Amino acid sequence: MANNTVTMDKLVALCKARGIVFPGSEIYGGMGNTWDYGPVGVEIKNNIKRAWWKRFVTESDNSYGVDAAILMNSRVWEASGHTTSFSDPKMDCKHCKTRHRADNLIEAHSKGTVNPDTMSDEEMQNYISEHHVCCPVCGNFDWTPIRTFNLMFETSRGVTDESQNKIYLRPETAQGEFVNFLNVQRTTRAKVPFGIAQIGKAFRNEITPGNFIFRTIEFEQMEHQWFCKEGTDGDYYKEFKQKAFDFLTDLGFKAEHLRFHDHDKLAHYAKEACDIQYLYPMGWQELNGIHNRTDYDLSRHQEYSGKTLTYVDPVNGEKFIPYVIEYSIGADRLMLAVLSEAYDEETLENGETRTVMHFHPAIAAYKAAILPLQKNLAPQAKELWGRLRKFFSVTYDEAGSIGKRYRRQDEIGTPYCVTVDFDSLENATYTVRDRDSMEQVRLTEGEIVAFLTKNCAF
Ligand code: GAP
Repeated sequence: MANNTVTMDKLVALCKARGIVFPGSEIYGGMGNTWDYGPVGVEIKNNIKRAWWKRFVTESDNSYGVDAAILMNSRVWEASGHTTSFSDPKMDCKHCKTRHRADNLIEAHSKGTVNPDTMSDEEMQNYISEHHVCCPVCGNFDWTPIRTFNLMFETSRGVTDESQNKIYLRPETAQGEFVNFLNVQRTTRAKVPFGIAQIGKAFRNEITPGNFIFRTIEFEQMEHQWFCKEGTDGDYYKEFKQKAFDFLTDLGFKAEHLRFHDHDKLAHYAKEACDIQYLYPMGWQELNGIHNRTDYDLSRHQEYSGKTLTYVDPVNGEKFIPYVIEYSIGADRLMLAVLSEAYDEETLENGETRTVMHFHPAIAAYKAAILPLQKNLAPQAKELWGRLRKFFSVTYDEAGSIGKRYRRQDEIGTPYCVTVDFDSLENATYTVRDRDSMEQVRLTEGEIVAFLTKNCAF
């Protein structure tokens, strides 16, 4: 399954043809690194977010959700360090005027054998000179020196020029969780250790090599901060590494398509950090991150806000600033991994090829498609569709031969097709076809409800 047949070109073409992802602002010629989710794609992405929320909030003993504002007080970004140190090393090609990340140039030139994360700007500059790394667009060697650009998008508030204040579109959702530490603790009466989770948009002025939805300037993050006592942080870090991995394999990822990558170079606040990488069509790349952020975040917000964020243990009165284990994953980056993992091309007995997306049924846009065998069975099929829609996301299709309709559903990964035929009128049973095995069973409506409930759960 997947990865041997999938390429980025095939995925992009399928996504465009089947309403999964379209280029952003397409009728205006597009806008670089922006993508729009179509009718099928928005369902899949919502299901991914739902599965994550269920696992890390609803089913968690002591984790709570928030939905914080995208626009935050600018002091937040001073406290977090983003205004001073959230930047990429960039170089411009003086010949073709394109802009590139120095670390990406080194990674591509060395075919991944050199890790630029451990290099200073000067070392990167030297590497590029010594190895005569040319511009990947025009092939010339005519670079500006490395310059660092802050990745945050700036905007301003206020109605007159005098009252304008610089504010930022948040570059991560994490800070909305840290600034609500006291609010969540007070209103839920949560005791440390506990977690705060959030799903929401983040924005970064990234230069990207154009890997579809892998790295975009606007994206969604699913982040979970686990507040714990110093000394317990090492065990929780290990626990979240495992939880993050299990979430992916439970979604249907093959373990051999995932690997841990421990960071050699740690951020100044981090004690331990790793990524889980996935074998994307363009190679191994970061899918998510797990970081032991120590007490840095709450200490900094305490210092910058002047509010006490010290936790008082209700049992022994001990006071401390909690450590944080962060688990962070991009919803769009996970979507790309889900699409890559699910993609398959199968040769059928009759020699034809079918493209099929083997999504976990919980992730599929539609749990079932209702198909009348012939058009004159449409009224009965539509009635069944209307009844099943109350319980599940179900689609309906009456256009074309039954074979063509099966293929269309296979391409968007609908796990079951329910066909209404003439026997259905006689005995109120329907043919249910399995997407992966293509085997069929005959079930009553009640049995279909129980079957979908059981097989589409996450
Ligand atoms: N709060 C920590 C944080 O933001 P990060 O490693 O910068 O850490 C976490 O981002 C995750 O967010 C990444 O592992 C990735 O899944 C996703 N992500 C980051 N930048 C992205 C981008 N430009 N486009 C899509 N996803 C992105």
